[in-house]
Amino acid sequence: MRVLMVGDVVGKSGRQLLTAILPSIRVAERIDFVIVNGENAAAGVGITPEIADQLLSHGTDVITLGNHAWNRREIHGYLETQHRILRPANYPPGVPGCGMNTYNCRGISVGVIVLQGRVFMEPIDDPFRTVDYLLSKISHNTPIVFVDFHGEATSEKQAFGYYVDGRVTGVFGTHTHVQTADERVLPGGTAYITDVGMTGPVQSVIGMKYDSVIPRFLTGLPSRFDVADGPALVCAVVVEVRAVDGKATSIKRLQISQQDADALLHHEETRQ
Ligand SMILES: [Fe+2]
Repeated sequence: MRVLMVGDVVGKSGRQLLTAILPSIRVAERIDFVIVNGENAAAGVGITPEIADQLLSHGTDVITLGNHAWNRREIHGYLETQHRILRPANYPPGVPGCGMNTYNCRGISVGVIVLQGRVFMEPIDDPFRTVDYLLSKISHNTPIVFVDFHGEATSEKQAFGYYVDGRVTGVFGTHTHVQTADERVLPGGTAYITDVGMTGPVQSVIGMKYDSVIPRFLTGLPSRFDVADGPALVCAVVVEVRAVDGKATSIKRLQISQQDADALLHHEETRQ
């Protein structure tokens, strides 16, 4: 089984590039299951039901979210009814949505968990002890489990990866929007990367117009950040999974530019 994890989708340019190219990536990389972090898909912050539906109808199997999961009020009811979208599990009881589920992928059960870090982030429940609890619930259903760990600090994400090594199939870091080059299969068979990267506008500060961000650093005063436009880049990883025991056998980084996407689409057209 081959699983694609796509890094944080930001704004219109990220959405447009991903929805245009994802069906072709699925074919070219022989992908069976797609997880997309969509917590910044709506104009850079949060996600709306319309955008979630758009992603889910263009090749995404599961949308994962993070600290901006609830920014758009209209998503709250959707999180309660759509089982293909997950928010971080380690928020207090009663928060809309759910942080773990299992999905049927060609007759094989795949578990997905979302957790959020606590270093330089909101003081929420412990993601380490939460994952122990969630794995006690899910592990008898399937050995194939992926975790989107939405966190700021590299050290926390790496520590979490080793903490669950051998107990989950993959840990994908998200939130910092810059793809790290530390992808590896850990000794126990867990695929790991500190940050999958961003699917959004290239010429930006983590997806925002740089001239709307720089004044904050110059003055310290509050300022509004605007989502950048222009050519986007898809950042993702592909994990090869041994379905029988849920171990990862490889992890590969992907970066697909607008030009790469155009070439891939052209190649498909000429083959038809
Ligand atoms: Fe985030």
